[in-house]
Amino acid sequence: MLDVYRLPNARSVVVHDDLNALSIYIAQHIADLAARAIRDRGAFRVALAGGETPRNCYRKFSKHSVDWQHVHLYFGDERCLPAGDPGRNDFMVQEAMLRDVPLPASHLHRIPAETGPGAAAAAYSKVLQDVLPLDLVLLGVGEDGHTASLFPGNPALEGTAAALPVFNAPKPPAERVTLSLGAINASREKIMMVAGSSKYFALERILCGAVLPASMILNADWHLERSAVHGT
Ligand code: 6PG
Repeated sequence: MLDVYRLPNARSVVVHDDLNALSIYIAQHIADLAARAIRDRGAFRVALAGGETPRNCYRKFSKHSVDWQHVHLYFGDERCLPAGDPGRNDFMVQEAMLRDVPLPASHLHRIPAETGPGAAAAAYSKVLQDVLPLDLVLLGVGEDGHTASLFPGNPALEGTAAALPVFNAPKPPAERVTLSLGAINASREKIMMVAGSSKYFALERILCGAVLPASMILNADWHLERSAVHGT
């Protein structure tokens, strides 16, 4: 079992018995953060993670009582696939959450990744420039320690714009758009969601001192599912 409580740059670490428990906990936490942000600042602006880990969490979050008129949804990254493609992160979010909640259409800020990485990143940086810092960024972690679409050794890690083009991503599709490290780290809250034994070695490498994109997220709250910590 990894001593995940030593994760560098983590603000907190919680290990959950299974993905369902992790999803229930984070769905409630997002609802609490939303209520606090709307009370304090009149809006809740959150960037959503892609991949499979958060899917169940979004389903549970959609069942919470949220003041959707004051929520704005962004994306931590998007895959450069045609609009409506089932492989897109916004497609997953639509299926898991959006079809069940009364979010005003203008409050859904998709990344126009169908226009290609360069144009989409430039357009999304313009969308973000007036709204950073976000209230929350939700992030998954890949088997190689990537997060959002920030991959180890990729030039996007050096980018300073709010949203960046990604080329040659090792996780298909090769072309993507991602929030930059700066935009993510500026967020008031960051939540890392890690589930599955396939993530064990990424965590082990980070704990042994490897500087991977996920470990470059500062002051994040890490939520780990037990199999990622035990490797089984
Ligand atoms: C993507 C995600 C990516 C994902 C991790 C973990 O486009 O795939 O943005 O960063 O969060 O790869 O993916 P899983 O949750 O499916 O393991």
